[in-house]
Amino acid sequence: MKEALKEVEKRSKACFGFIAVAAPSHMNPGSRSTRGYEFGRTYVVRPKGKHQATIVWLHGLGDNGSSSSQLLESLPLPNIKWICPTAPSRPVSLLGGFPCTAWFDVGEISEDLHDDIEGLDASAAHIANLLSTEPTDVKVGIGGFSMGAAIALYSTTCYALGRYGNGHPYTINLRATVGLSGWLPGWRSLRSKIESSNEVARRAASMPIILAHGTSDDVVPYQFGEKSAQTLAMAGFRQVMFKPYEGLGHYTVPKEMNEVVHWLASRLGLEGSR
Ligand SMILES: *[C@@H]1O[C@H](CO)[C@@H](O)[C@H](O)[C@H]1NC(C)=O
Repeated sequence: MKEALKEVEKRSKACFGFIAVAAPSHMNPGSRSTRGYEFGRTYVVRPKGKHQATIVWLHGLGDNGSSSSQLLESLPLPNIKWICPTAPSRPVSLLGGFPCTAWFDVGEISEDLHDDIEGLDASAAHIANLLSTEPTDVKVGIGGFSMGAAIALYSTTCYALGRYGNGHPYTINLRATVGLSGWLPGWRSLRSKIESSNEVARRAASMPIILAHGTSDDVVPYQFGEKSAQTLAMAGFRQVMFKPYEGLGHYTVPKEMNEVVHWLASRLGLEGSR
């Protein structure tokens, strides 16, 4: 617990640094811009080879698209174009209302957390919009770390259900989802929603998802990550791969990224992959 608090403290400090330079002045704790959510800058990593797939990658709490793009640029996936948006700065309950880059509001991260559906929908729509102009012969997917993994999984459930939480239609044809050290928003009601129609169940059954989680994660509890994977599987997502990483905390390691690289190359049928 002490470790978790230290982590949050570290993050809120990182946040403060970021906010001090870049936060729009109307973003005060407790208030929300009437113009809606203002997303930060989007960074794009162009494919070094033939463009076969595009993946939107979502950063964790307090981070930004720039640091994601640096990590992804180093991966041996020349056929993927990476789009790395930056979340809006908003007051975050977990940080006592302190403003931070976050895809949605979140309090204590546990199975009992309350879902900020409005924030989730706004970010899922922003992500879908980023993918909406990709060429039709390019496969599209979503991935992320921590809170970024949560919004990636939320988007995936919207894809299967064919609609956002607010009922608006979801129109992107997702082909792969990657979630590292994250969780599944709306996990309690997913099963009944998926079972509501054959078409929804069919989309869920064929959606490839890879999830990885460190067993020593003290920010997003390992049990919650595992439960999220089980919930997806029980709701009818038949292609969920869940990878525990023994002793890993709330970060990624090269071995894990290698596994993601191989999984993406094979699931997306990328050229030059073995
Ligand atoms: C992005 O976040 C990193 C920390 O992950 C920080 O060092 C960097 O300054 C941030 N960049 C921008 C453009 O905010």
